[in-house]
Amino acid sequence: FFQEVEQAPPDPILGVTEAFKKDSSPDKLNLGVGAYRTENLEPLVLDVVKKAEERIMSQNNNKEYLAVEGFAPFREVTARLLLGDDSKALKEKRVVTLQSLSGTGSLRIGAAFLAKFRAGTTVYISNPTWGNHFNIFGDAGLETAKYRYFDAKTIGLDFDGMVEDLSAAPAGSVVILHGCAHNPTGVDPTKEQWKKIAQLCKDKGLFPFFDVAYQGFASGSLEEDAWAPRHFADEMGLEIIVSQSYSKNLGLYGERVGALNAVVSSADEVPKVLSQWKRIARATYSNPPTHGARIVTEVVGDDALFSEWKKEMEEMSGRIINVRAALQKALESRMPEKDWTFITRQIGMFSYTGMTKEQVEHMWEKWHVYCTKDGRLSLAGLSLSRADYLADAMVDAINT
Ligand code: LMR
Repeated sequence: FFQEVEQAPPDPILGVTEAFKKDSSPDKLNLGVGAYRTENLEPLVLDVVKKAEERIMSQNNNKEYLAVEGFAPFREVTARLLLGDDSKALKEKRVVTLQSLSGTGSLRIGAAFLAKFRAGTTVYISNPTWGNHFNIFGDAGLETAKYRYFDAKTIGLDFDGMVEDLSAAPAGSVVILHGCAHNPTGVDPTKEQWKKIAQLCKDKGLFPFFDVAYQGFASGSLEEDAWAPRHFADEMGLEIIVSQSYSKNLGLYGERVGALNAVVSSADEVPKVLSQWKRIARATYSNPPTHGARIVTEVVGDDALFSEWKKEMEEMSGRIINVRAALQKALESRMPEKDWTFITRQIGMFSYTGMTKEQVEHMWEKWHVYCTKDGRLSLAGLSLSRADYLADAMVDAINT
């Protein structure tokens, strides 16, 4: 039965962690997966999470199954965090929310829904994109295509290329948009460009599906980072789907907490869409885990914890900004002929360096510096004290 099974390739991101764990060098650095580390390169549990957990423990909750659609108070706070207190769609009860397993699980339910109800549609995904997007939509049985996004010459957005490719997509196609902090490039459209993308979706009948995995981590403001989906839904009156993750902004990686949301055109559609999402979730994992949803509810739903959370998020993104500056400086002093300013221009957790696969492999082998083969460095995994070491490794790899 199993004889014909071939070895699957390692995951482009989680495979890096596997290689890192096998390396016994004391110099090793894991700049692969986007997971926040402290200046001592230790994982961080936010204080607000610890406080929320204390409250949860004192509630003496049971371990019953959650409803297939998730924890009701969580579903309410998560939709509000995404769409805003003044959201027209929320006031008009045109929002569907299903608690799901962080970003990936939410995207997968959305993908399965598209495969069932929009069979034959093509899903347009930015080039480059997060290492799991093609797996998720492809495994759900959807056709996928790429649209231009990154301009290697300017290390910025190829906006004209993006508009040209999306304009040529057939009406009814789905477009995956990174809501903020584009992964892996750290390059986002400006508000003016977002407005044009929204208008293009409207004019060409393209369906926007946002992946919001870094709300609060891009600009440091939860509101600003949700500007694009809010604009599409409330200003432009578009129907959208949005996946959300609390892995990065609340550091709840292993708790697998997130949501799939849709803004639909009429309140009557809400129970119908939700019933289909529940149908898919039931057959996939039955119902979502409780603990993370309770934590999010305590933090987002409580004014005091909510403001503390914002401060802790600023500390995390502030540390990454400092690390960016230190790395840029270290590279400028070693290789002044090259323009390294992109490192502090890119936002979010990552730096997309343009390094080749061979250069990355050189860093893995000689320097024990692990990053993804596309040259993406997770700066959330770098400390100020290791910036010089990384710069040495990068310069050596580039000169070899
Ligand atoms: C990443 O891009 O490193 C993160 O989104 C983690 C993951 O699941 O790949």
